[in-house]
Amino acid sequence: MINIYIEEAMDPKMKSEIFIRWILSEYLKVDRDELNIKKTKYGKPYLVDYPYVHFNVTHTKDMIAGAISDNPIGIDMERIKPRPHNKRIAEKFLTKNEQKYIFHRKDNQDLRFLEVWTRKEAYVKWAGLGMKLSFDTFDVLDDDRIITTFINEYIFSICSDCFIDWKDDESFSFCFNEKSVYE
Ligand SMILES: CC(C)(COP(=O)(O)OP(=O)(O)OC[C@H]1O[C@@H](n2cnc3c(N)ncnc32)[C@H](O)[C@@H]1OP(=O)(O)O)[C@@H](O)C(=O)NCCC(=O)NCCS
Repeated sequence: MINIYIEEAMDPKMKSEIFIRWILSEYLKVDRDELNIKKTKYGKPYLVDYPYVHFNVTHTKDMIAGAISDNPIGIDMERIKPRPHNKRIAEKFLTKNEQKYIFHRKDNQDLRFLEVWTRKEAYVKWAGLGMKLSFDTFDVLDDDRIITTFINEYIFSICSDCFIDWKDDESFSFCFNEKSVYE
């Protein structure tokens, strides 16, 4: 079971903690101020009192998204827009196989770059290692733990063990928040 929550926000980085508390309190049906959230030494936030509840958050300039699951989870979101430095970044950080996948055709290179990039980020966030894990040491193209999806002009990748046995979309729900959590 994975719940995804998405919300527009003026300053998502500043609002991250409020957002996390809100989605977790909705999920757990507890008061948001009672949640004891700490970060691992690599920066992954976790709930001290609910070791079997996993969550992760991602933000762009104007959106924030969170995922909650009963399995370890990583989520990454990017806005789809032209990326002039893709080639240079890809050569530095991606595997040869991933570079070939992105650049083997002229069309949609930005989109394929973002697909690979968000999958990488979701993977390192799932593993909880963040920047400790070098991006060129693992390949995300055929990893069954990672799915990639689109919502409007945003691309999302989510990494979780539960996708390995995933047969339908019953265990995956999106929640678009119509009423801001910051009101
Ligand atoms: C955390 C990390 C994995 C993702 O960062 P990002 O994509 O820039 O930012 P996102 O908005 O998607 O995610 C940020 C959230 O990830 C979470 N996070 C931080 N460290 C984490 C970790 N080790 N594991 C899982 N989640 C983590 C935090 O909740 C953070 O939100 P907060 O700062 O509001 O608390 C980042 O530290 C990283 O390692 N990025 C690699 C980027 C890189 O190599 N760039 C160089 C080429 S340009």
